[in-house]
Amino acid sequence: MRSILEAFHEYRVSDLGIRIVDRDEELLEMLKLLRFGEDVDPRNSLIYVVSGPWGCGKTEFARALTRALSTAKEVIATYINVPQSFALEEFYGTTPSEIVGIVENFVENFLGDRGKLLFNLYKLVKHLVNALKVRNRRLVLIFDEVTSTLDRYRVSIRDLVAGLSKEIYDAAWSFGCEVYVVMLTSECTALYDFKREEGKNMVVYQMWHLDKKHLARILEELGSPHDVEAVWKLCGGCPRAVYELWRREWMLERWVSPYIDKVRISLQSYARSHRVAEKELLREISRLVEDLDALELHPLWNEFLKNNVVTPIFSEWLGGKAPPNEAWIGNSIAFQMPIYRTVLETMAEEGRLGVESSKVLRRALS
Ligand SMILES: Nc1ncnc2c1ncn2[C@@H]1O[C@H](COP(=O)(O)OP(=O)(O)O)[C@@H](O)[C@H]1O
Ligand SMILES: [Mg+2]
Repeated sequence: MRSILEAFHEYRVSDLGIRIVDRDEELLEMLKLLRFGEDVDPRNSLIYVVSGPWGCGKTEFARALTRALSTAKEVIATYINVPQSFALEEFYGTTPSEIVGIVENFVENFLGDRGKLLFNLYKLVKHLVNALKVRNRRLVLIFDEVTSTLDRYRVSIRDLVAGLSKEIYDAAWSFGCEVYVVMLTSECTALYDFKREEGKNMVVYQMWHLDKKHLARILEELGSPHDVEAVWKLCGGCPRAVYELWRREWMLERWVSPYIDKVRISLQSYARSHRVAEKELLREISRLVEDLDALELHPLWNEFLKNNVVTPIFSEWLGGKAPPNEAWIGNSIAFQMPIYRTVLETMAEEGRLGVESSKVLRRALS
């Protein structure tokens, strides 16, 4: 167990070149779920869904987790980045090379397409059984951005969950092991589907951005010229936003403009499809920024959801770790980052959708 924790903390986030920050609670939650120290029992097999706002760190967590779990003899872990099926290294991430070889052999001889792995779980486990000793071991099969190919294969989340629960049980009983399928998704619209399918062998966890203390750690390691409070007011602890800021050499104006564009494009798309004039739209925005929880019932919600501007929050999925108590976070919904709320406020105040980066920043940092 200690070596798992150590290996997890030694993992380096590849684009930033720094050690992974935090995520201890998520790791412990995962290890609890895997029942380390207990006898292997096929009945423990389950589906674990990890959702969370865009850029909160799900992929990095999963890559570090795969690396760390692979240090334990009783575990066989794979990381599979579903949308990257054409790029070998990205697709298998931190999966140990021996396991990559076995899975690739299965793909080449039986599936012909890596994208089909998720739908052939029983056969995949069987193939692993033939190549490795799996009895009394735990198989942890992680699929990142799992919803991305469902449309291509015309599979609904309901069918996926029903199919997987049957397959993991069948495989676990047939081969005397435990099978855990971990599915990661940033797609907020999928959360409602998972909510409907929640059952005794599917557990959902909603990850949040980093807290202020860990945001401070990343900023210090990267040598940020901005103080923690300022960055917090812009991104609320979103590590991907910090990465974007770092990549733009800490220049706030360059950093903020894609987020302004994203909000404006969502609003324009909504206005066109609902035939709402700009003036009326701006009036609605002024009302909605004051009353965050009302937004979920507004037709704009779907547009914002689709574009990862907002997210529902299911408190029962937070694992006792509540998002911070801040103005951009409501009881059951939140803006994914504070900057989105500030952009809307600036638009309402200025009375137009075309707002300047400098005005948004001044407002955010005041
Ligand atoms: N725990 C972490 N520690 C340090 N940097 C992180 C961490 N999590 C994410 N990052 C940074 O944020 C970026 C986005 O994270 P990622 O895992 O891709 O988010 P998600 O998969 O939730 O969209 C990463 O490329 C990395 O630069
Ligand atoms: Mg990801």
